Amino acid sequence: MKEELFTKRLVLRKIQTSDAAALFNIWSDPAVAAFMNISAFTSESQAVEMIDLLNELAETKQAIRYSVFDLHSKEIIGSCGFNAINAENARVEIGYDIAKAHWGNGYAPESVQALIDEAFINLGINRIEAKVEPANINSVKVLQKLRFTFEGTLRQYEKVKGNFVDIHMYSLLKND
Ligand SMILES: CC(C)(COP(=O)(O)OP(=O)(O)OC[C@H]1O[C@@H](n2cnc3c(N)ncnc32)[C@H](O)[C@@H]1OP(=O)(O)O)[C@@H](O)C(=O)NCCC(=O)NCCS
Repeated sequence: MKEELFTKRLVLRKIQTSDAAALFNIWSDPAVAAFMNISAFTSESQAVEMIDLLNELAETKQAIRYSVFDLHSKEIIGSCGFNAINAENARVEIGYDIAKAHWGNGYAPESVQALIDEAFINLGINRIEAKVEPANINSVKVLQKLRFTFEGTLRQYEKVKGNFVDIHMYSLLKND
C-alpha cells in the first residue's frame, strides 16, 4: 500500500506520530467526533495511541490511515483511509474527517476520490463500503457526490453513548 497519494490540492501521507498534535486539534472537536466512533479527545496522548493502533493495523494490512495535508499551506486538515480491509473478498471500508475550519471546500470528496482510485486501480479492490449515521448529512452528501449507492439500514448496528443507533450502508463497486 502506498505511503503517499496526491490530489490536485492535497497530499495524503501515511499517518505518523509527529502528526499527533495536529490530529488532536481535529479529533478533540466535538463537531468532528460526533459521528466518528470516538468521544472527542481530551488529551494529545489519545491521538498518539490512536496513531499507534492505526499503524499496528497497517503492519498487518488490516487498515491504513492517511493524514491529509493541504499542499499549499502544508498544514494537516484531516485524515482518511481504509478500515477493515478484507482481502479475501476484495472489499474495504473507508473513513474520513476534515477539521471544521476547512469544511465545505470539497476536501473530503477530493481525499476519498484518491482512496477510490487507489483501491480500484492499484489494490485490486472490488467493493468500497461506507457506514454512516443517517443524521450525518454532511457525510451523506460526500458519498452522494462520489456516486455511492445507498443499500439499506443496518438496524441498531452500533452502540453510541449507551444507545443503539441505526447505520446506513453505502457502497461503490468497481464496475459502477
Ligand atoms: C463529513 C465531512 C468529512 C465532510 O467534509 P468536507 O470536506 O466539508 O466535505 P464537502 O466540502 O463536500 O461538504 C459536504 C457538506 O457539508 C456541509 N457543510 C459544508 N460546510 C459546512 C460548514 N462550514 N458547516 C456545516 N456544514 C457544512 C454542506 O452541506 C456540504 O454539502 P454541499 O457541498 O452540498 O453544500 C466533515 O463534515 C467532517 O469531518 N465531519 C465529521 C467527521 C465525520 O462525520 N466523518 C465521516 C464519518 S462517516
